[in-house]
Amino acid sequence: MTDKISFTLDGQTVTAAPGETIWQVAKRAGTVIPHLCHKDQQGYRSDGNCRACMVEIEGERVLAASCCRAPSEGMQVRTDSARAETSRKLVMELLLADMPEREVAHDAGAHFWDMAEATGIAESRFPTMDAERIPLLDDSHVAMRVNLDACIQCNLCVRACREVQVNDVIGMAGRGHDAFPVFDMADPMGDSTCVACGECVQACPTGALMEASVVDADQRGDSRDFDAEIASVCPFCGVG
Ligand code: FES
Repeated sequence: MTDKISFTLDGQTVTAAPGETIWQVAKRAGTVIPHLCHKDQQGYRSDGNCRACMVEIEGERVLAASCCRAPSEGMQVRTDSARAETSRKLVMELLLADMPEREVAHDAGAHFWDMAEATGIAESRFPTMDAERIPLLDDSHVAMRVNLDACIQCNLCVRACREVQVNDVIGMAGRGHDAFPVFDMADPMGDSTCVACGECVQACPTGALMEASVVDADQRGDSRDFDAEIASVCPFCGVG
């Protein structure tokens, strides 16, 4: 008797350890499934809210978010089916429509752009955000910049602040398309109780939150490993 689960991924038999998701098994098998709201690091629970990682499961009518779906014995998963690829492309196009273009992005090397490339999407056929809806830059914090025009509501900054660092400064305000991260009671970040640990900056996949000192350097467009473990200790507060 084994706890391992066997299933097929794009026709190849793979095994999952207890607790592993389809996305994690695919990563181990060398199959790239785009991901935006999922961060492959300890402490970050899967939220399943961006739908960039959709896969098709034989016999199921609805596509599944691979970052939070556990495989079961004998399951047949396709990352490469037309339905799954079309769904992932659509998600990326919708998100891209509301983002500043890469040439003028706050962080041209952000994980988002790697995932857009992996999905095969360089531009969107959907209309861009109305100019009056574009949020203003918040540069009130000495160490960080808040560029909410690049926010995709993935919620990673909230999980980073609340669940990983247990600071609980960042929350979400608004609903649906109008949701956006806020600091304390929607204070400017510089007036909030943020301790500048930087966890939210490391978690942000788009450059909506950035370290002030690297804003200019990142305009170069060097891509980085979004899932790399980064350990740092804030010199002020001793966390992070
Ligand atoms: Fe799976 Fe966002 S990465 S839903």
